[in-house]
Amino acid sequence: MTRAGRFVTLEGADGAGKTTGIAAAERCLQRRGIDFLVTREPGGTPLAEEVRGLLIAPREERVTPLAETLLLFAARAQHVAAVIAPALAAGRWVLCDRFTDATRAYQGAARGVPGATIETLAALAHPGLQPDLTLYLDVSPEVAFQRVDGAGRPSRDRFESEDAEFFRRVRAGYLALAEGNPRFCVIDASAPREVVAEHIVERLDALADAAT
Ligand code: TMP
Repeated sequence: MTRAGRFVTLEGADGAGKTTGIAAAERCLQRRGIDFLVTREPGGTPLAEEVRGLLIAPREERVTPLAETLLLFAARAQHVAAVIAPALAAGRWVLCDRFTDATRAYQGAARGVPGATIETLAALAHPGLQPDLTLYLDVSPEVAFQRVDGAGRPSRDRFESEDAEFFRRVRAGYLALAEGNPRFCVIDASAPREVVAEHIVERLDALADAAT
């Protein structure tokens, strides 16, 4: 895939503070005059947003890990083809709230879907595309739960309803992915918001400096 823009993803458990992190990243790119778009997964196109609704809605029926993974990649294939790849090819930066690392952590590490299945689907949905920088906001399940509960939302979605053990596996999954992987930047998200924002800006500045 030919491209000139930079692909930056934000990852972290529910309650890690990704929304605040994205806002800090947006301010940084605006300040530098970089043309960018902000998008999210699952979602980012009308079809993919519908799939998101299906995925996060609490339901009686048990959703199998494979069915969940296939839905995520169906949404991702659409999102990449319709939004991410064209933007990158046009030289724009893409700031994406979650991408395939979320599948590796949630469906792989936490739900037990084999890594080979995930990588096969990733190769089909976004051949040759991976983030240039992944900002992983790391927080313990305890802190994350407090934040989700404190956010004043009326109810938890299907993922937020999982227990602490599930989120421990998600966290371990992300940390294992980050280990020795230079595109990852692990940020302690239990730190005050301004400190987290500073780390994000530092890394984006470094990426932007390297790109010019
Ligand atoms: P969000 O809360 O970050 O908007 O994401 C919605 C939920 O989707 C979140 O609980 C994590 C989950 N998710 C996965 O399990 N696998 C994935 O690949 C993605 C993108 C999200």
